[in-house]
Amino acid sequence: MRIGVLTSGGDCAGLNAVIRAVVRRAVHGYGFEVYGIHKATHGFATRPVDAVKLTPGDVSGLVGRGGTVLETTNKGDPFDYPDGAGGHQDQSHLIGQGYFELGLDALIGIGGDGSLGIMDKLARQEGWNLVGIPKTIDNDLGHTEAAIGFQSAVQVATEALDRLDVTAASHSRVMVLEVMGRDAGHIALNAGIAGGAHVILIPEIAYDIEIVCQHLEERRRSGRNHSLVIVAEAAKAPEGDRRMQTLAQGEQRYGGVGQRVADAIAQRTGAETRVTVLGHVQRGGSPVAMDRVLASAFGVAAVDLCAEGKFGRMVAWQHRKVVDIPIGDAIGHYQAVDLDDCLVTTARGLGITFGDR
Ligand code: F6P
Repeated sequence: MRIGVLTSGGDCAGLNAVIRAVVRRAVHGYGFEVYGIHKATHGFATRPVDAVKLTPGDVSGLVGRGGTVLETTNKGDPFDYPDGAGGHQDQSHLIGQGYFELGLDALIGIGGDGSLGIMDKLARQEGWNLVGIPKTIDNDLGHTEAAIGFQSAVQVATEALDRLDVTAASHSRVMVLEVMGRDAGHIALNAGIAGGAHVILIPEIAYDIEIVCQHLEERRRSGRNHSLVIVAEAAKAPEGDRRMQTLAQGEQRYGGVGQRVADAIAQRTGAETRVTVLGHVQRGGSPVAMDRVLASAFGVAAVDLCAEGKFGRMVAWQHRKVVDIPIGDAIGHYQAVDLDDCLVTTARGLGITFGDR
């Protein structure tokens, strides 16, 4: 068999560990050939296809390296492909045929909900044999308890809170940490608990700034001279909008809610506030152990699915086991923080406020 592998969408820690696992399982386990396609499905748009044969020697030492050696992109939807002149056109057939140009029997696509959705559509249209592997720091893909990159992002945010705590205490300040996660609050919730935040603001629970301030005032009255607030980038007050920023290329991304919250706290309580926006630091760097384990388990299982001829499936992590589910099920179920989630209960039990009543 000749298997292709590509990384698509935003990068995260652990992608190289997946590529390594795919190559090792395919070559050592089955004697298959593996080709890495560059820059997601972009690599299929050129002739010859922009791909490289990968041997176990090529992936040696990759288990702990951040980024992706295959590169990636979160632009260039084949169905709405940039034409180089400012417009877009459907290049799905050209890109879809790149799979056959390379002589592939199967493709392992590593992506989040957006890119897995696009690859699934392409696979159906062009007749690819596709197996998906979930990766996203946002952890918002359905039917998998964990996606690659999430635990590493949580670790980075937790370490940031640890560092902010001591400087906050030194200056009697309220520190606000804005973290990523798109429309899901998983990073803020997990890091907030792990890093000892006093306030956690997530998109799933609209916050009332008065309640946030009351909580901080109570802490001050009880002798605590500093506080930590962690804010997910899409958090919002009931009456407010989500904070967006327009980038130079005209694209919009979440950003700015941390400053909004910090300013509101300073105005209402008189506390000295400072804001840290963690940004892409959460995506870079070495994967934590759990992401390396997950990446290895997913990579091996994805190759096994190819060998069994089970396609249109995504590997998933459920109850400490790798299972496989239809790709459509995963992308069709947006996994936001469930308000009955035990971690929400845990946070409330610790006396952390979400800014709600
Ligand atoms: O989906 C991953 C993610 O890092 C989000 O948490 C964030 O909102 C977005 O991607 C940032 O995208 P970009 O890398 O294009 O700035």
